[in-house]
Amino acid sequence: MRRVDPLLGTCALDTLRQRRSMKWRTYPADVLPAFVAEMDFDLAQPVIDAVTRALALGDSGYGHLGVLGEVFAGFAADRLGWAPDPARVFAIPDVMSGLAEVVQALTPPGAGVVINPPVYPPFWFRFGFSGRRIVEAPLAVDSGGRYQLDPDALDRALAQPGVGAYLLCSPHNPTGSVWTREQLHTVADLCLRHDVALVVDEIHAPLVLPGAQYVPFLSIEHEMTARAFAFTSASKGWNIAGLKCGLVLSGSAAGDKLLAGRWEAFLPGHLGVLASVAAFSDGLAWLDAVRAQLDENRWLLRRLLAEQLPGARYQPPQASFLAWIDCRELGLDGDPAATFLERGRVALSPGGDFGRQGDGYARLNMGTSPELLAEAVRRMAAATR
Ligand SMILES: Cc1ncc(COP(=O)(O)O)c(C=O)c1O
Repeated sequence: MRRVDPLLGTCALDTLRQRRSMKWRTYPADVLPAFVAEMDFDLAQPVIDAVTRALALGDSGYGHLGVLGEVFAGFAADRLGWAPDPARVFAIPDVMSGLAEVVQALTPPGAGVVINPPVYPPFWFRFGFSGRRIVEAPLAVDSGGRYQLDPDALDRALAQPGVGAYLLCSPHNPTGSVWTREQLHTVADLCLRHDVALVVDEIHAPLVLPGAQYVPFLSIEHEMTARAFAFTSASKGWNIAGLKCGLVLSGSAAGDKLLAGRWEAFLPGHLGVLASVAAFSDGLAWLDAVRAQLDENRWLLRRLLAEQLPGARYQPPQASFLAWIDCRELGLDGDPAATFLERGRVALSPGGDFGRQGDGYARLNMGTSPELLAEAVRRMAAATR
């Protein structure tokens, strides 16, 4: 196996076990964690420098947008083929609270929010906190085993009485699908026809992998962009979720007004802003090293599963570090993640957490070294024997 790029460190297990984040403290020390979406690589040096410099200065007060709008717009132009207006970038504490706030502002209590299961678990419960209800438009699986948006299912869901918003995950977690421009136009047509607001979670966009063409929703030519809000962040791409900073952009002056009205009560973490500025401006070499490693890992996982768990079905993701594994033919009783944990001492995310469409599946986090990925698969295989 190739050595991890020096920019990413070594992913030494004894060092990782000193971390105190959710990934490393949820389970006992004999469990290899491969569940929550944190990566194992060292942080990008510009991010470390930005945060340590701030701490040395006592610069730990309230968040201030600073140049975040400009550097994100520069990143978007350079990497995403999109030229947003820097003045229209708003910072938020994180993507999920931003989504919840905007959905609450756009819809009345009791409104339906359409999602595409299997999908990121907080999509299922977060909007219930403000009395909204979930309406399902499940993804379909194509003949190549890749999850796709199902326009008929989406049409039916959007037509249900009281539906007020559609939450599109783009790229999609956990399936790793990247939606085409045509698919985004279909989504936009359907939302327009059903008069439903659109919120798009683009948090995994910086981690689109070679071979896939990601299209930011607000970059398409469609009148629905005026009713859309796009959310993104450096938190997944640069592994800084704990620093608390997300970004939201709207496609209209009315949307900007809605966001501006909430700004003062809805501040991002100051260190998160500083780290995000460093990431979007000076963290690109590091990001490319991560993307190269994830590209290698997604194919390595296919080989390892074929060798050690041939009953498992897996389509390498087009983006990010999450592998969605169909374990239904492994002959396990109940939740496969529970078997992997109890008998193999490796923690994956239970597929059922992503909706009943995920029963019999498990999600594996590949944001690590090839060695630890191989160790995760070795433990999964041992659990099935
Ligand atoms: C699709 C998606 N949205 C949102 C989040 C959470 O983002 P944040 O920590 O900014 O709320 C995640 C985290 O993994 C995610 O995968």
